[in-house]
Amino acid sequence: MADESIDKDRRRFLTGSTAVIGGAGLIITAIPFVSTWLPSARAEAAGAPVKVNLAKIEPGQRLAVLWQKQPVDIVNRTPEQLKWLPKQDSRLRDPGSKDSQQPKYCQNPWRSIKPEWLVFVDICTHLGCVPDYHGAIKPQPFDPDWKGGYYCPCHHSRYDMAARVYDGVPAPLNMVVMPYHFVDDAHIEIGVDPSDDEVKQIIAANAKLAGQQKGAAA
Ligand code: FES
Repeated sequence: MADESIDKDRRRFLTGSTAVIGGAGLIITAIPFVSTWLPSARAEAAGAPVKVNLAKIEPGQRLAVLWQKQPVDIVNRTPEQLKWLPKQDSRLRDPGSKDSQQPKYCQNPWRSIKPEWLVFVDICTHLGCVPDYHGAIKPQPFDPDWKGGYYCPCHHSRYDMAARVYDGVPAPLNMVVMPYHFVDDAHIEIGVDPSDDEVKQIIAANAKLAGQQKGAAA
């Protein structure tokens, strides 16, 4: 019974505007150790682009904000978390993100512009619950071989540290990466693509890095 009530609350967060506004406090208070600039309630309500200061998000921490009434997570991935990403491919349903939704400049092994920064819509692709962050690389009750990621308690879907879904769970796709770009090294703007020139540079830089990592692993 208790689980059912959690499920209903989580779905309500995603389907009703009143519940979404109420849920903003829940998201932010769920991460008490990160204090950083948050977008104004007015900007959130209008669905405007949202600027976020990354400076105070330590490696391994995440910050949750609202963008277009959706929960967006920003994670500063550690080298250890990044190291495990390619080793999870055989456990995933769509490791290359071919069927999943992300901008073309984020279709790379880490699904992001910069490997250390994961930015995505934290909504389960099964029935729309908000998965919980479990960044620690250690056995979990829901996965004894856990390498960090997100766990959806509603029906037990699991995602890795690139928001890619594991095989054999109810969720069909990786979680969505929405458009964003770096205003400078310490700030991102959610909801706005990089310029065309920046897109070319991002794709080229990440292709080179992915090639280097593949070569090093061979
Ligand atoms: S909503 Fe069903 S597993 Fe996430």
